[in-house]
Amino acid sequence: MNDHGSMRTARRTHGFTESVIREMSRVAQEAGAINLGQGFPDFPAPAVLKDAACRAIQDDVNQYAITWGTPSLRGALARKYQDWYGMEVDPESEITVTCGATEAMASVMLGLVNPGDEVVVFSPFYENYGPDATLCGAEPVFLPLSPPEFKLTREPLEAAVTARTRAIIVNTPNNPTGRVLSRQELELIADVCRRHDLYAFTDEIYEHIYYEGEHIPLATLDGMRERTVTVSGASKTFSITGWRIGTIIAPSDLTGAIRKVHDFLTVGAPAPLQEGCAAGMRELGDEYYEGLAKQYRERRDVLHQAITEAGFRAVKPQGAYYIMADFSSLSDLDDDSFARHMTRNGGVATVPGSSFFQNPEEGRHLVRFAFCKTLEKLEAAGDRLRQFSRAGG
Ligand SMILES: Cc1ncc(COP(=O)(O)O)c(C=O)c1O
Repeated sequence: MNDHGSMRTARRTHGFTESVIREMSRVAQEAGAINLGQGFPDFPAPAVLKDAACRAIQDDVNQYAITWGTPSLRGALARKYQDWYGMEVDPESEITVTCGATEAMASVMLGLVNPGDEVVVFSPFYENYGPDATLCGAEPVFLPLSPPEFKLTREPLEAAVTARTRAIIVNTPNNPTGRVLSRQELELIADVCRRHDLYAFTDEIYEHIYYEGEHIPLATLDGMRERTVTVSGASKTFSITGWRIGTIIAPSDLTGAIRKVHDFLTVGAPAPLQEGCAAGMRELGDEYYEGLAKQYRERRDVLHQAITEAGFRAVKPQGAYYIMADFSSLSDLDDDSFARHMTRNGGVATVPGSSFFQNPEEGRHLVRFAFCKTLEKLEAAGDRLRQFSRAGG
């Protein structure tokens, strides 16, 4: 039975859609396709994290951690923000560890956004921000950015802000566009936040995965520390999306409310896995992070070349691990039909582009490839795509 209009389910869920990504994974499995839809890595996590997590379990670190995170992980995080970004962060009053960036963003919004507020979300977007706003009784206001550059400019941003705006959500490096926001674009956001007294909630989960430019936490810009909440996590940096470790850095006067929500939602993130992440953060140095970006750059280049040769049009992403590709020279189908067709007849699964846009029409000619997979898998997918294209797409 369709939820819509049902008296048996809460109205706040009626606008939520089933994840297209999970549906495409099911189709991929049925067809024996290589799944470049879902964004989870298929290669091992660093040994130092796994060893430390196993040790913690053997040592009976089995009970609830401190709700806002183990001292070891908060300590390692405070050092990380100091070393990488020159940000001074108090581990006692400004850090909250959550069950993934997903729970982090939900806790931040439920802690800081009132019913009736508006929250600005750039489109295309990662799928959770709109529903998070809805869970708060707030309204997401979508600001479309134009392909292929997806550049942020002043006028539309100013126009999206009203007297009800509470916050702007900023995801850089970006899923799905691959954009890394420039200092100039971040300055623009900062200026609008300062002048209209808004919060910025950032999603920096891909902070260590970029190929051009630099990752600049918005919180480091003038006057932004006190109005920025920085969300990140271990899923992508350490290739451990199933460990569910996310992090929040917020000024201490905001942290109390965020921690209360987090406590009621999940009590805390898995204790032994926090120990694993703390060890990773303490012990892995520049070599690890440089290697991570270098390997992803190689994967990006292999996939980008393959899809270009197969007739897709796509710009090379500057960061994160996705390519939004235009398939209109291969097929007249819409994105949903094309993604299913390519999964069944080309043996490669992607995500239909329309699922990332507020106006689905903007993504009808697009599919999103994820390249967080081994080179062998990406090369095999490339061979299949070239063959699919030769056979007429
Ligand atoms: C932009 C973005 N934010 C958050 C997440 C989820 O992060 P986590 O696994 O920490 O919940 C993802 C996962 O794909 C993502 O792409």
